[in-house]
Amino acid sequence: MDTQTRIPVLDLNPQLDALWPELNQAIQRTLRSTHYILGPEVRAFEQEAARYLGMKHAVGCNSGTDALVIALRALGIGPGDEVVTTPFTFFATAEAISQVGATPVFADVEEATMNLDPARVERAVTLRTRAILPVHLFGRPCAMDDLLDIARRRGLMVVEDCAQSFGARHRDRPTGSMGQIGCFSFFPSKNLGACGDGGLLATSDDQLASLCRALRVHGSRKKYHNEMMGYNSRLDELQAAILRVKLPRLEAWNAGRRRVAEGYRRLLEGHGRIVLPPPDPGHVYHQFTVRVPGCDRDQLQARLAQEGVETMVYYPVPCHRLLAYAHSHAHVACPVAERLCAEVISLPIWPEMEHEAQAAVVRALLAQAGRG
Ligand SMILES: Cc1ncc(COP(=O)(O)O)c(C=O)c1O
Repeated sequence: MDTQTRIPVLDLNPQLDALWPELNQAIQRTLRSTHYILGPEVRAFEQEAARYLGMKHAVGCNSGTDALVIALRALGIGPGDEVVTTPFTFFATAEAISQVGATPVFADVEEATMNLDPARVERAVTLRTRAILPVHLFGRPCAMDDLLDIARRRGLMVVEDCAQSFGARHRDRPTGSMGQIGCFSFFPSKNLGACGDGGLLATSDDQLASLCRALRVHGSRKKYHNEMMGYNSRLDELQAAILRVKLPRLEAWNAGRRRVAEGYRRLLEGHGRIVLPPPDPGHVYHQFTVRVPGCDRDQLQARLAQEGVETMVYYPVPCHRLLAYAHSHAHVACPVAERLCAEVISLPIWPEMEHEAQAAVVRALLAQAGRG
């Protein structure tokens, strides 16, 4: 394959092309308004996002990471508290728990779904546990029935990390609507991505929403009357205006991702060396991540790159093995997550991806994986 037919892991150009006039209009409207911080665009986007999620409140903030930090602070989680979460996630999930002074307790994941294993969560709960923090990884909803049941029985709160799962559903309930607070990221590559950083908290609890709003502006509900230590973590007006253009397209984009995922499934089924993600109608395929057990994954990725197929490894190291946790979590063992980190590879996917590109990815993958 020559460089002209290089297949990126994500292509945002089709959505930019489709929305170019509307995006320009939204940007120009916002520039002209001269209102750039917490103005009408953020307010309107918060209402539209809350409606989409079926929640009473949505609170924009600066990033998905900040959404997690603010959610944990709003729930009063801090030093001495433990939060059970997955080790197979982006560092920000665990980092947010540490940032508020609490301790992340890593429970291993299920091999097939790569999400938190409820049985292991139950075993990880101690007298200090205050909350469970499930991550709907790659856009796949976690086993929320079981996790919510554990939370109810053990008196725990649930904060959902929906950074990768905007629009995903578990039994018709949107991810982010099942725990006390749902936390979203608008990092540009996400299913609903901004043109910069952005995040959102969703809750139906009036008091929690009010606290989240205060925490994102230096702990104040009334200007210059600061009640607590907070953050400067606001969703930008320009990003909100862009997200308002994109949100009405999200359902169609997620349907496009499902179509691409089904295409991969058809093309790859029956090839024993490639383990496919099990189907789930609520999955929104932020990533289409396969496993290649028995194969040198890093070498495979390098060979695919030589063939012009870009892939990603989410994630090469589980959180408890990262240097940042070397001093505190060296004793932790999560063998499933550790194995997944050596076996996973995420294939190119975006809503408008065409069949020929997919077929080329699959041809290269089967040829290179076949070489061991
Ligand atoms: C699972 C998960 N949690 C949290 C985050 C943090 O989001 P952000 O990059 O917007 O801070 C990300 C995003 O990259 C993520 O993938």
